[in-house]
Amino acid sequence: MKILCINFKGGVGKSTTAVHITGVMSGIGNTLLVDGDRQVNSYSFFLRGDLPQTDKVVEISNSLSVITLNSLSPTSRHALSQRISKIGKLKFEHLVFDTTPDAFSAAQIISEIEPDIILVPVKYGDEGGLIQLRHVFNSIQALIATGLNPVVKIVPIGIDEGSIIPFLPAVTFSFSFTDLIPADPLVFGMAMFRDFEYIWTYAGYEYLYDVYYNMIFGK
Ligand SMILES: Nc1ncnc2c1ncn2[C@@H]1O[C@H](COP(=O)(O)OP(=O)(O)OP(=O)(O)O)[C@@H](O)[C@H]1O
Ligand SMILES: [Mg+2]
Repeated sequence: MKILCINFKGGVGKSTTAVHITGVMSGIGNTLLVDGDRQVNSYSFFLRGDLPQTDKVVEISNSLSVITLNSLSPTSRHALSQRISKIGKLKFEHLVFDTTPDAFSAAQIISEIEPDIILVPVKYGDEGGLIQLRHVFNSIQALIATGLNPVVKIVPIGIDEGSIIPFLPAVTFSFSFTDLIPADPLVFGMAMFRDFEYIWTYAGYEYLYDVYYNMIFGK
């Protein structure tokens, strides 16, 4: 399965979503996390803060490997296509893509990886992320016009569906909302950037394993 975490806005929870989806998928099958952001946040989560080894698949465990796309200039469209197409040929059951908020590269990634599932995180207090939804949805619409049929889900992080809906453009594809991810900057920040631990290992957040699992396997 190919899973893409995307929003054309920074700081809305793409990497947090990608890391936890990778955690779920690597419990199920051989999974590669592809970090397409030069900040390499999700990649370095799995390397516990280490810097990238460019162009290499790094094996974290039997069923979990990571790679970055960061060696590429974001303007090098052809190089990015080649890189993505190579990754598509690697022998992994599941690919999870974290993306850059740079709209130009992100729009290209949407069209080139042919995702089965697109997760679009939106975080509370981030108007910019809501406003970018229009462009994200329009890019998905363009992808669907090419004959693909990905499942599209919005991941609401500390924000209710009613606050998101007015920002969505009219589209012909169907989409849904995942269960709510609670707003807790301190615990999520520690988990992602200090402890390099999944959020469901923290007291009170165990239920979030099921929430992330259901993003892929729930309706
Ligand atoms: N549930 C949450 N509640 C509060 N803050 C959160 C939550 N999830 C993530 N954050 C915080 O939001 C910030 C952005 O998260 P994250 O790095 O996942 O977003 P991103 O979209 O990948 O950002 P970037 O575009 O910079 O790569 C981080 O500081 C993170 O700790
Ligand atoms: Mg990120």
